[in-house]
Amino acid sequence: MNLQFTDEQLMMRNMVRDFAQTEIAPFVEQMEAGEFPRHLLKKMGELGLMGITAPTEYGGAEMDFTSYIIAINELSKVSAVMGVILSVHTSVGTNPILYFGNDIQKQKYVPKLASGEFIGAFCLTEPGAGSDAGSLKTRAVRDGDDYVLDGSKVFITNGGEADVYIVFASTNSEAGTRGISAFIVEKGTPGFIIGKDEKKMGLHGSRTVQLTFENMRIPVGNLLGNEGEGFKIAMANLDAGRIGIAAQSLGIAEAALEAATDYAKERVQFGKPIAQQQAVGFKLADMATAVEAAKLLVYRAAHLRSEGLPCGKEAAMAKLFASQAAMDSAIEAVQIFGGYGYTEDYPVERYFRDAKVTQIYEGTSEIQRIVISKHLLG
Ligand code: CAA
Repeated sequence: MNLQFTDEQLMMRNMVRDFAQTEIAPFVEQMEAGEFPRHLLKKMGELGLMGITAPTEYGGAEMDFTSYIIAINELSKVSAVMGVILSVHTSVGTNPILYFGNDIQKQKYVPKLASGEFIGAFCLTEPGAGSDAGSLKTRAVRDGDDYVLDGSKVFITNGGEADVYIVFASTNSEAGTRGISAFIVEKGTPGFIIGKDEKKMGLHGSRTVQLTFENMRIPVGNLLGNEGEGFKIAMANLDAGRIGIAAQSLGIAEAALEAATDYAKERVQFGKPIAQQQAVGFKLADMATAVEAAKLLVYRAAHLRSEGLPCGKEAAMAKLFASQAAMDSAIEAVQIFGGYGYTEDYPVERYFRDAKVTQIYEGTSEIQRIVISKHLLG
């Protein structure tokens, strides 16, 4: 694997870094107050960030997967909210249509998703089906030229804001995971009900809602892939999706390390900067080592994905390790800031709150271990 970014990838990194500093950083406070960054997503669409990997024929920038991961990584250093919105929109909101959709579906939805006119979301999780995603209860029954969907979904990132939802429902309850099908659902379809807006520990600018489908009629033309292929579509897109969340985690870990290092160089106690106290220097050393190791895992998985090679195991490893690095770095950053770290005057308490969910969504750390061990054991 080449550890140097290409000129094109470096250009992407610099462009996103600049955008994050000039446009996103000033809006972080509003996002913390719960405001959804719709106007920033529009600008990201203009910059080509909402369709980074989509082919140019569908309005995308047709860059490689690593460039997409660089973008999430850079956004997340400034705002983990922007990182997760882009990751869900792309990996599990747009890519299922690109990889499993027919030409009509791609022509209809991908250009709007790639331009940022539409936002994408992914509806797998249900009240009784979280880690055990295959036990979902939402039903889709064929009725003439439609499917009729009934059920409810929870923890839907971008929910309510998104225009297009990839919804998983059972078309054959006898067949287990082989009876699950995927549908493209548009917001506003009769029977599509937006429910409770979750009040979360972190990621305040990202919307997470419950959805209910009541007698919701979806045209047969919006079935994604074939009946019964839904679970594989979900799992295949989550493989790559997890690299996005790993890149978001890496961004949080890097931000925590940078803030803690700067503060430790400035803050004087016992007559010298606390960075020169071994207890603090060792914390910074451990954080920097974890960041470096996470970076290698994240970009190794991204490289495999860019090359079109299998990456399920490496994606799970990257997410498992990088999310732990984010949590550990955020905890230690708060500790290094001491009492100030516990206040909202410094960003480390936000990193701490934002980091936790990276060990939970797109498969908990325990699920990543299941995925890795399944790969090892065959
Ligand atoms: N790619 C393609 N197919 C796959 C696959 C993959 N990565 N993983 C499994 N499959 C296939 C299997 O081959 C199998 O197919 P056959 O029936 O033809 O043999 C089928 O799927 C069932 O596989 P398993 O028996 O392994 O399935 P399982 O029920 O034991 O579940 C699991 C496996 C890995 C635990 C899975 O349930 C899982 O990933 N759970 C976590 C769910 C999750 O990540 N949810 C995230 C929600 S989205 C989100 O969080 C977004 C957000 O808001 C940020």
